[in-house]
Amino acid sequence: MPRGDPLLAWYAPRRRAYPWRGERDPYRVLVAEVMLQQTQARRVAPAYGAFLRTFPSLRALARAPRADVLRAWSGLGYNRRAALLHEAAGAVVRDHAGRLPRDPAVLRGLPGIGPYTAAAVAALAFGAPLPAVDVNVARVVSRARLGRDRAPVREVELAASRWLAGSDPADWNQAVMDLGRGVCRAVPRCGACPLAARCRFRRMGAPPSPPRRRGEPFAGSAREVRGRVLRLVLGGRTTLARLAREMEEPLVRVAAAVRSLHREELLRAGPAALAGRGSGRVGPVV
Ligand code: ADE
Repeated sequence: MPRGDPLLAWYAPRRRAYPWRGERDPYRVLVAEVMLQQTQARRVAPAYGAFLRTFPSLRALARAPRADVLRAWSGLGYNRRAALLHEAAGAVVRDHAGRLPRDPAVLRGLPGIGPYTAAAVAALAFGAPLPAVDVNVARVVSRARLGRDRAPVREVELAASRWLAGSDPADWNQAVMDLGRGVCRAVPRCGACPLAARCRFRRMGAPPSPPRRRGEPFAGSAREVRGRVLRLVLGGRTTLARLAREMEEPLVRVAAAVRSLHREELLRAGPAALAGRGSGRVGPVV
């Protein structure tokens, strides 16, 4: 990205918008990126600071009990990410002397770290010239550079790598993430876009593909029930019947949530609870 690039100029006044901006400590970058995988940035912001106060270092996280990690994650959803982050911290202490590896291929070998998170940590913490391609970045690059709404990921990675060459990888990545989230959305706001004049997609007059249908609404969903069950169980041991009563949910729904959380080792359920009996015991993992 050359000097005076409109993307960078657009990003400059926004670059302090989040508490993880400017962060170069690999552990803190990893925590932010795992939280941001499936949770909106404005919800991550307060949880991020609180999590780092509780677990200020990778070693502190690695030696904490799993239930404490899940408690600190509470409210962010997709709690399996917290368990995997905890496992990753343990693996780094065990196999890498407590230091996160710089090599994205090695990072990808850690629990819960996929290509996106590995590239984000490598670029933001270690300054590697790599694009971290999530759905927002893929959309921006596909449109601006390839003139298509959704290009295959390999093409996107190639075009993105060319685009970011010569610029600060942390700034480039976060500028494109912000642009994808706020401006170059599924239905784009080209009037507010710093790239509009040069956007190949726009020049071709191509209409955006209809936005993909979102999944089921969160309220009342199985995912919401799982989150509520986990929060209650982290408060102390209980039974299936008591959970169902407190949550005002049918026993079968609560039992299904308990079974799936038990399978993922996010809580512990006795045989009776797993069989769906109200008297069955449920408690936090240790
Ligand atoms: N989404 C994922 N990672 C992000 C970051 N570092 N800043 C803003 N949005 C993001």
